[in-house]
Amino acid sequence: AAAEKGGYPTFMEKEIEEQPRAVADTLLGRTDAEGNLSLDELRIPEEKLRAVERVTIVACGTAAYAGTVAKYAIEHWTRIPVEVALAHEFRYSDPIVDERTLVVSISQSGETMDTLMAVKHARDLGALTVSVCNTLGSTIPRESDAALYTHAGPEIAVASTKAFLAQIAACYLLGLYLAQLRGGAYAEDPQAVMKELHDVPDKIAEVLRRMDRVKEIARFMADTRAVLFLGRNVGFPVALEGALKLKELAYIHAEGFAAGELKHGPIALIEPGQPVFIVVPGPDTPHELHRKVVSNIQEIRARGARTIVIAQDGDTDVEPYADEVIRVPHTMPLLQPLLTVVPLQVFALHLSTAKGLDVDQPRNLAKSVTVE
Ligand code: G6P
Repeated sequence: AAAEKGGYPTFMEKEIEEQPRAVADTLLGRTDAEGNLSLDELRIPEEKLRAVERVTIVACGTAAYAGTVAKYAIEHWTRIPVEVALAHEFRYSDPIVDERTLVVSISQSGETMDTLMAVKHARDLGALTVSVCNTLGSTIPRESDAALYTHAGPEIAVASTKAFLAQIAACYLLGLYLAQLRGGAYAEDPQAVMKELHDVPDKIAEVLRRMDRVKEIARFMADTRAVLFLGRNVGFPVALEGALKLKELAYIHAEGFAAGELKHGPIALIEPGQPVFIVVPGPDTPHELHRKVVSNIQEIRARGARTIVIAQDGDTDVEPYADEVIRVPHTMPLLQPLLTVVPLQVFALHLSTAKGLDVDQPRNLAKSVTVE
């Protein structure tokens, strides 16, 4: 088993380190010489994809957060409405799905029963089904019209890391492909986004080289009882994922919130010393979201929160209100989750280790849940 871990103490550490590769491999071979996306592997006729009027993403756990990132990106690039549904909720609601609905399932294992049931239900209702999956030949891609594989390699640790990044990358590819197929003046140039996306693996590697302080913070926080995570736009699912990782690995009560929601309730939780992670959008994010999140940090800091801020290189606006600043390199706003989630994974892992817990196999959890 030691050999399988490639010199790392745990599978999870190995898999976190493999993330640049997981994303690069997922992007590999999916553009032609001109930089256009070519997803022939989907084997769905282009006219059917062009006719898609809505997208519904079904998934569970971490995969559902990848789906939420995808929603922001696909809607922006294609102007097709995208809904994200937890697979078990989708299945037993009365979902509005027809032949012009593209149902995208996301599953690392391809065996999650809740997700499988949702896919079968969608297919019965006439939807086009695409499986974003990490496991070749597993059940969900077999039961779907098409598969778009993530190439993260086998993921052994129960808590998902590299598969999550690969799922996000695959969803970007799908969104950009739909945008390219449909054309349209509103679409951002898919080639320009792809160019930026191809630079992301090196930036993930850069984030990983900067994790010493995050590990230190995790060790200092071994006795922490509750941690909050805030984000906006694509930073919101990153906050949710940061909280999920901490629950799964360190058994600490953690919650993620949309930063704009703070004033509608969660701010009541802030008391002196309360640790809060804030995922700050890059200063170039539309709608002045950067400024708005900085003012959220200011508000909670004034109430005594201990603010641990994830911000882009060069963003000095956060400094007056941050107890800690964790830096990530610049990328375009919609691609930021591939960088900003990494410190949160590393934090959860090292907090778990500091508490002496089993990082790879947290209590009560299974890698793949094959019962409803
Ligand atoms: C389990 C795992 C989670 C995972 C979820 C979905 O609950 O513990 O880490 O996110 O299943 O798994 P899937 O294989 O469908 O991505």
